[in-house]
Amino acid sequence: FSASFSLDPDFTIAPVSRRTFGSFVEHMGRCVYTGIYEPGHPTADSDGFRQDVLALTRELGVSLVRYPGGNFVSGYRWEDGIGPVADRPVRRDLAWRSLETNEVGIDEFMRWAGKAGVEVMYALNLGTRGVQEALDVHEYVNHPDRTRLAELRRSNGTPKPYGIKMFCLGNEMDGPWQTGHKTAHEYGRLAAETARALRSAEPGLELVACGSSSSQMPTFAAWEAEVLELAYDQVDYISAHAYYQPIDGDIASFLASAIDMDHFVNSVVATADSVGAKLKSTKKLKISFDEWNVWYLREFQEGVESAPPDWEWPVAPRVIEDCYNVADAVVVGNLLISLLRHSDRVPVACQAQLVNVIAPIRSEAGGPAWRQTIFHPFAITSRLARGEVLRVELQAPTYETKRFGAVPVLDAVATHDAESGDVTVFVVNRHQSGAADLAVSLAGFAGDLRVAEAWTLADDDLTATNTEEHPDRVVPHPAERAEVSDGVLKAALPPVSWTAIRLT
Ligand code: AHR
Repeated sequence: FSASFSLDPDFTIAPVSRRTFGSFVEHMGRCVYTGIYEPGHPTADSDGFRQDVLALTRELGVSLVRYPGGNFVSGYRWEDGIGPVADRPVRRDLAWRSLETNEVGIDEFMRWAGKAGVEVMYALNLGTRGVQEALDVHEYVNHPDRTRLAELRRSNGTPKPYGIKMFCLGNEMDGPWQTGHKTAHEYGRLAAETARALRSAEPGLELVACGSSSSQMPTFAAWEAEVLELAYDQVDYISAHAYYQPIDGDIASFLASAIDMDHFVNSVVATADSVGAKLKSTKKLKISFDEWNVWYLREFQEGVESAPPDWEWPVAPRVIEDCYNVADAVVVGNLLISLLRHSDRVPVACQAQLVNVIAPIRSEAGGPAWRQTIFHPFAITSRLARGEVLRVELQAPTYETKRFGAVPVLDAVATHDAESGDVTVFVVNRHQSGAADLAVSLAGFAGDLRVAEAWTLADDDLTATNTEEHPDRVVPHPAERAEVSDGVLKAALPPVSWTAIRLT
């Protein structure tokens, strides 16, 4: 089948936000311990950080990392993780039923973030704690000097403040599973007061209120509306979280997961704007999509529910170490297309998580680190999406899905970097058997554009994965027949594929 669209440098949505390429490090499973941190590993540096994982993090093109949770943060005492490591307490982590040794805390993590070259978005505990704890963390990380906690930071080895800009006001507080779960009213008041206090300390902070933990929550939209009616003036962002997986083997719907993400974003924007209208505010709230990915969540939930009670409290157990296949990578590439398309309202997004726990990077204790299939579309999109996001009005056939009805077989977005002149097209073919002939009119661009690089991720075996034994079984290949002639980019897109084409 064939599909087409036209690109024009004037039809812009918003600048590409580097923060779209965020990730997430939670004290959960083996994300921190034997993930980013493993003293004694052959590649560990003098701080105990795995340099193989650091190198992959840089290659992935991560811009920002949310830390330290996740559900974990709602029972976390940040001060357990500072000072001499030998004096730090071991605590129960109720979220993941494990023990937290606190060997890594905020100072270690900030050092790791410096080495990885990423900005940190810090999540505050508004589950078991409140305004005072938020102020204390802020004083420790951002206050310049003379106060007790700023001086404590200095005595712990960091005289200069870290200057963290973004703070999440809790995590998934709408979820009954959350330690210290709250009603929308309770949370909205707490978020507003915490934000007000933080802003008194540092007016320029960027603050994220918790939205729903998924659009399937029974309180979805009502939660956002009530929270924002209480906290609209105090916060800059409302969060969104979404995880996707094939349900009952329905690959056709799974491949169209970005339809749900689009709908989710549009619904939250509509809800936020309606609260703004009601409050007669000219301010436009943004979305921090600070957890998204493919996650085989049902299998995890069934495993937890059917497992006999285990009263052992392990340290850094294997939790949700999903092994991703080709279809998962195509979906991840498509979710990034959706996020880019919404750059005007979604300038921040974090793929959950970075290492081992539903992650693009896998590592083994004492062993290697490798790229999962989903690593590739993320790394290439982060590297190539530059300048302005361009609007795409796709002409493509549709296919039927159980979950979303008729959906377009292709999805695409493009970026244009006026400085370098580069135009990059990101496109997925969701069709399970048909190849697509894509034609993109470049008539709006002066001068001749030619293909500089073109990559496709596809495979005859949709279930193929990358493993410790075969870490490069699934990698992107040069795209088929991608070329420009007479101002039209043409490319052949195999079934179930993700493709990026940079023109210069
Ligand atoms: O990313 C895994 C978990 O998913 C996070 O801890 C939680 O916020 C979400 O439910």
